[in-house]
Amino acid sequence: MNHFELRDGELYCEDVPLAAIAQAVGTPVYVYSTATFERHYTVLREALEAEGVHDPLIAFAVKANSNLAVLRTLAQLGAGADTVSEGEIRRALAAGVPPERIVFSGVGKTRSEIAFALDAGVCEINVESEPEMLAIAQVAQSLGKRATIAFRVNPDVAAGGHAKIATGKSENKFGVSFAEAERLYAQASNNAWLKPVGVACHIGSQITDLAPMAEAFEKMAGLVRRLKGEGLHVERLDLGGGLGVPYFNQPEPPTPADYAKVVAQATRGLDVTLAFEPGRVIAANAGVLLAQVVHVHERPEGRRFLVLDAAMNDLLRPAMYDAYHDIRAVNPREGEARPYDVVGPVCETGDTFTRDRALPAFESGDLVAFMSAGAYGASMASEYNSRPLVPEVMVKGGDYAIVRPRPTYEEMLARETPAPWL
Ligand code: LLP
Repeated sequence: MNHFELRDGELYCEDVPLAAIAQAVGTPVYVYSTATFERHYTVLREALEAEGVHDPLIAFAVKANSNLAVLRTLAQLGAGADTVSEGEIRRALAAGVPPERIVFSGVGKTRSEIAFALDAGVCEINVESEPEMLAIAQVAQSLGKRATIAFRVNPDVAAGGHAKIATGKSENKFGVSFAEAERLYAQASNNAWLKPVGVACHIGSQITDLAPMAEAFEKMAGLVRRLKGEGLHVERLDLGGGLGVPYFNQPEPPTPADYAKVVAQATRGLDVTLAFEPGRVIAANAGVLLAQVVHVHERPEGRRFLVLDAAMNDLLRPAMYDAYHDIRAVNPREGEARPYDVVGPVCETGDTFTRDRALPAFESGDLVAFMSAGAYGASMASEYNSRPLVPEVMVKGGDYAIVRPRPTYEEMLARETPAPWL
């Protein structure tokens, strides 16, 4: 459920008409619903608790939406943060996430990022390879701090909506094998600078079938049992993120309640704290990208282009993953639906949001909303084609705040400095 709905023929976010935000802030602009973020986080936590998962660490995947207002909204509910760079750790800390709820993942952590994470006191560094484990031990020693680590295991299970976001097969770059995990865990347990506390996995994103998750979780539970059987200390099992959301043309994803059942089934009796790294399931349907129709261009041979002021630099998912986003009129007009190609102004054909989609009548100046854009939307935006970074607005009830303003052209240019010889 989300809080974007039509009221009296107008699309609202909570109690604010989206047209009012477009009018005040301009387009393109991302608009987020506080109530939806809160609901999604709470539903997931309650579903897990209902299945007897006590005090889980729900570490929101910052990459899905890294806006500080979003992170603060979730932190206030008790969420942790799953981070993959020093920048994300800094964001989580700035948003008030306590370091003991910050997980640091990623296949290529640099030594300076590792040092930063150790200084910050994050709750766990997820180790993705043997050389990384050795680097963490060295950095920890140089700082005189013991590093709390978990091993990210690649469970060799295929899952995920698109090849570019599947991570759980052994051919992908993520994590170590089960055999390596056992060897490295034992090795790390004998290293004075490392404190292994658990194991982690994340098999992919936009997963709409629970079977691969169940398979991966069972395999992980087996690993925990084996490690404990070897007398090693294991207190945490991190099951990653990946739960899919309805993007309207896709298979209905499992509910958080179904997901929680699978988790509980696989981990019963393990006696470990569970951690999760959900991104999309919390953020996607909590945000929309608002854009304005620049013009409707009808080709004599029949194609009808809806040219928007938003482009692939603002919402990359359709160009990058052929992703489907529902496109809705903010003030729908009467009239029959007709097929449109919806495109942005960027100078490449990839800047196409959809082709031949039946949509209601649109005219120049109309507003459109890309639904389910709260995850991997603004966080993947760029200034390609020198289009200033898309702003973000947070709504709460009848109020809204600009939580990332649109940079002016002057600000955009001022970030660059001329070379002395120019
Ligand atoms: N944990 C780790 C280690 C991850 O790599 C990811 C996502 C997550 C958690 C969160 O996964 P989620 O719950 O959001 O599925 N840009 C792509 C998605 C990339 C996902 C990368 N990893 C997209 O727009 O679909």
